[in-house]
Amino acid sequence: MDAIKMIEERRSVRKFKDMKVDRELMKEIISVSRYAPSWGNFQVARYTCVDDEATIKRLSTEGVNGFVYNVDTLKNAKGVLVLSYVKGKSGKLDKDEYVTSKDQDWEVFDAGLACQTFCLAAHEKGIGTTIMGVIDDEKISEIVSLPEEETVAALIVYGHPDESPVKTPRMAVEEISRFI
Ligand SMILES: Cc1cc2nc3c(=O)[nH]c(=O)nc-3n(C[C@H](O)[C@H](O)[C@H](O)COP(=O)(O)O)c2cc1C
Repeated sequence: MDAIKMIEERRSVRKFKDMKVDRELMKEIISVSRYAPSWGNFQVARYTCVDDEATIKRLSTEGVNGFVYNVDTLKNAKGVLVLSYVKGKSGKLDKDEYVTSKDQDWEVFDAGLACQTFCLAAHEKGIGTTIMGVIDDEKISEIVSLPEEETVAALIVYGHPDESPVKTPRMAVEEISRFI
């Protein structure tokens, strides 16, 4: 698929068919997602794919702060990715101290790049996704038994799309750009 077309066409999908996504296909998508750039190429993003019904139910009832929109989306979801990252690496060079004013914020930045790369790779493979930021990261860590050195960046619900969402509006280039 043409990259620009793919970027422009990807939409958040919140309705999915009643079938799980094959785990081998998920591995292929994650394999592509590995090519997301990262601070110092530390590759701190981690991918925990949940396709177990009971665990998805727990994520929906305990992991999204009761946010109705997300609870509804997760109700019929067949797959949820817990996108986490390894803490304390991005932003540091050789010494064990952060070298920019953003301190450790670069790790969240890396996670965001991994999210978008994952969503685009999934879209190319015919899998719909929605990134969820209204979440309870500590509760989610507990539910999926995340390793101590990681923290949750976002949930990404994924599955075989059962809707074709309309195009969401974007600001004009003139509004968001300047040239010097
Ligand atoms: C960091 C982040 C957090 C988001 N959180 C949520 C969320 O909690 N629930 C949800 O339904 N959509 C969420 N979204 C999806 C946005 O609403 C969506 O990307 C935006 O409206 C643009 O629509 P599009 O993805 O179809 O282009 C989030 C997106 C991002 C990037």
